[in-house]
Amino acid sequence: MPIEDCKLIDLPAISDPRGDLTFVEGGNHVPFQIRRVYYLYNVPVDSERGGHAHYDLEQVIFALSGSFRITVDDGRERREHWLRDPRTGLYVDRLIWREIDAFSQGAVCMVLASQPYHEADYIRNYDAFLKATKEGPRT
Ligand code: TYD
Repeated sequence: MPIEDCKLIDLPAISDPRGDLTFVEGGNHVPFQIRRVYYLYNVPVDSERGGHAHYDLEQVIFALSGSFRITVDDGRERREHWLRDPRTGLYVDRLIWREIDAFSQGAVCMVLASQPYHEADYIRNYDAFLKATKEGPRT
């Protein structure tokens, strides 16, 4: 937070007749060291993912294939982004509520994350999220 910090990040792309190549380095192209990567695939087109925030996790979310919508919310304002280019990711800061839906057929969502998985870092209740935004980050 704030929501203005949830910016699109364009990665380098090297194109030649053999195809396109994109790369990402933690601490360089994304503003944290990458400690976890996960991806969503075989996602039904009417699926709704996310629906939570994190106390202390930064992420960058990419549509490696296909497209989807990601809605980010800092407790004051909501913004929508459509991800459809594998070179372009959305940085999602701490204490940002996110919802992902409108998946195209065969969409693959890859997430680069600043921390390993910790269930205790999730805020899955919207009212608890609003309360946490008023208290500010823990760190
Ligand atoms: P969840 O974060 O709720 O999915 P999404 O935000 O994409 O809707 O995670 C779904 C399940 O997967 C939940 O039981 C936690 C588990 N999980 C892990 O074990 N490790 C991980 O790195 C992630 C992201 C999820």
